[in-house]
Parts: sequence; C-alpha cells; structure tokens
Amino acid sequence: MRLATRTEQVPASITLAISATAKAMKAEGLDVCSFSAGEPDFDTPDSIKAAAKKALDEGKTRYGPAAGEPELRQAIATKLQKDNNLDYEVENIIVTNGGKHSLFNLMMALIEPGDEVIIPSPYWLSYPEMVKLAAGTPILVSTTAENKYKITPEQLKEAITPKTKLFVLNSPSNPTGSVYSPDELQQLAAILVERDILVVSDEIYEKILYDGAVHQSIGSFNEEIFARTIVSSGFAKSYSMTGWRVGYIAGPVELIEAMSKIQGHSTSNVCTFAQFGAIEALEGSQEAVETMLKAFTKRRRFIVDRINQIPRLSCPTPEGAFYVFVDISETGMASLEFCETFLDQEKVAAIPGVAFGEDRCIRLSYATDLASIEKGMNRLEKFVNSI
Ligand SMILES: Cc1ncc(COP(=O)(O)O)c(C=O)c1O
Repeated sequence: MRLATRTEQVPASITLAISATAKAMKAEGLDVCSFSAGEPDFDTPDSIKAAAKKALDEGKTRYGPAAGEPELRQAIATKLQKDNNLDYEVENIIVTNGGKHSLFNLMMALIEPGDEVIIPSPYWLSYPEMVKLAAGTPILVSTTAENKYKITPEQLKEAITPKTKLFVLNSPSNPTGSVYSPDELQQLAAILVERDILVVSDEIYEKILYDGAVHQSIGSFNEEIFARTIVSSGFAKSYSMTGWRVGYIAGPVELIEAMSKIQGHSTSNVCTFAQFGAIEALEGSQEAVETMLKAFTKRRRFIVDRINQIPRLSCPTPEGAFYVFVDISETGMASLEFCETFLDQEKVAAIPGVAFGEDRCIRLSYATDLASIEKGMNRLEKFVNSI
C-alpha cells in the first residue's frame, strides 16, 4: 500500500510504546514499577461520574453541536474569567476531544505550509509532530537546566523570523515541571506583541503547582497580548479524567469558527454525556483536586531527594505538573539505551528524554503511589551503581 507521505514525517509516540511494553510485562506477572504514565493514578471524582451518569439517564446520548454543549462552553468561559482573568464569551470557546485534539485542531486551522512555530525544547512530544502534520516548520529552541528549562526573552527574540506564526508556551511544563513566573511571562508577552506573533498557552497542568508557585495566563496582562493569545487546556490532569477525552481552546472568534468547521467534518461533538461530567468538574467541589495535589506534593519531595542522593544523577525541583526531568548524562548512556536497559534489567519504566528533545535526560512521572516510588528509586540506585 502506498501511504500518504505525511505518515512518514512523524514517528510513533515513544511514551505510548514504553507504557505499552511496561503494561504487557505487568500482564505477564512481572513486578514492574512504572514511572512512564502521563496520567494521575486517582480515579475520576464520584461527583463527576454521577453527573455523567445522570446525563446518560436523561437521554443526553445524541449528537450535539460540533463546538460543544453551550452549557459547558459557558462554564469554561466563566472559569477562565474567574481563575485566569481572561474575558471570553461562549463564542470564544470550542470543546475538543482532549487537549491533544485541541492543539492538533488548532494547527490545522492556523498553520500554512512554511509557517514557523517556535517551540522551547524540551517540549511535550506531540507539539513538533502536530506542526509537521499541518505542513508547518517547528523551530526548536534549546533551554538549559540552569535556567530551569525556560526560554529567555533573548532566545525568543532571536528565534523570530518573518515566517514566525506561533509561539508554543507550556507552563507548568511536561516534561520538566517548570513554571514561568508572572515577570518572565510579561517579558515574553512584550516581545510577542511587538513582533505581532500569536501564542498558544497550554495550561493543562495549571492546578498542579508547588511551593507557592503561581500560574498566570500570558493572555491576562493587557489587551494587546490577550488578542494574540490562544488558551489550550483540558480536564485530564486536574480532574483525573484522562479517558474521558474532554479539552478546550479559547481564542479569537474567527479561529474558533474555523476550528468548529474542521471539527464538524472530522470528529463532530465530544461525547455528549462526558461533557456533562466536565461541567460538574468546573462547577462542583474542588476538594478532589486538593487531595491529589497533597499526594503529589509528598511524592515530589521524596523522589527529588532520592534522585539527588544518587551519584551521577541530578534534577531540578519541579514547581508544577507531576514529572521530574533527571539528568543521566554522567552515566555515559544515551536516554533511549538507559530506559530500555533499565526496563529490561530492573523492570522500571521511564521515558527517554530524546522523545522530548533532550537526550541527556529521562522523565519520571510521580503520578504513582509512594510505595512504588520508593521501590523504583531503590532499583534506580542499584541500576546506576551497576553502570
Ligand atoms: C503538555 C500537555 N498538553 C496536552 C496534553 C493532552 O492531554 P489530553 O489530550 O489527555 O487532554 C498532555 C497530555 O499528556 C500534555 O502533557
């Protein structure tokens, strides 16, 4: 079969492949510790499940508007106003099949062949692939551990060319856990306004913050940057709803209308009764979010301390999300070789940094229970000592 060339331009997802191998090993009865998952280990809160069940019982089982249920779009607009100080109406919101679909759809609606999209590296692995699928050119800008893996205003300025269409910002970040301070964001915003560049702000981890770190949306500083901001988010991480597939984009009306057209010819609406669960997530009690955050806070302290006690390994303390990005370069191994051998020898699954554009590092997700983290760290120490 002659497949479309675009399928050759993107590799298969390494994270999904490693998670699948680890799951298969578990199914064989092996004692696997998995640090690979990009999802909370908690179940979806009962009140959210109850709202979706009620919607099912009430017959909310039909096709709905492609851009989402008006009630959910309104709840998202209200949330963005209340939590993020962003002034959106219902027409500025589209509900999508998860944050991943939000971003894919956005690239389809915005990017023309040859358009450049600036992506700070390390990056969430799907950003460059989505840009390529839309026939755009990802421009990767390497950041450093010393700067907590954040792009500097000078680096952003240097990366801008007449072809630059979009800047991708992800704070809190997957894979590094970095969080941009309001001051840092304001400096980036000033450049984007001056050079008239759009920014997509992926805020899917906004509620998972530590040590007093604050999340501010880049669009909230002034009218000029607001007009150039597209917010991408979803329910997967904050509300432990990864399998529900509900996300959203907020942005200028013409963009939302274009995305709705594409959605109308591809996926149509997001699962109708799932959208009613999402309304409850936004409008109901936020206690479950707090409970998860407390657990993540404890695990983060534990895992960061243990890693930094292992000779030849180091990691900055992440300020958000639920990942640690560990520098393994002093072991002399490349990240893929490290992760494959570690899984094979010690039955521990981690994601090689090369998947995120940084071969010196591996990513460990601490969205797993403390006992497994302790066991995994013992195995990590043993493994590194054996290299
Ligand atoms: C930075 C980032 N953005 C977006 C997503 C997409 O999330 P979902 O499609 O599950 O809503 C993820 C998931 O791993 C992510 O880490």
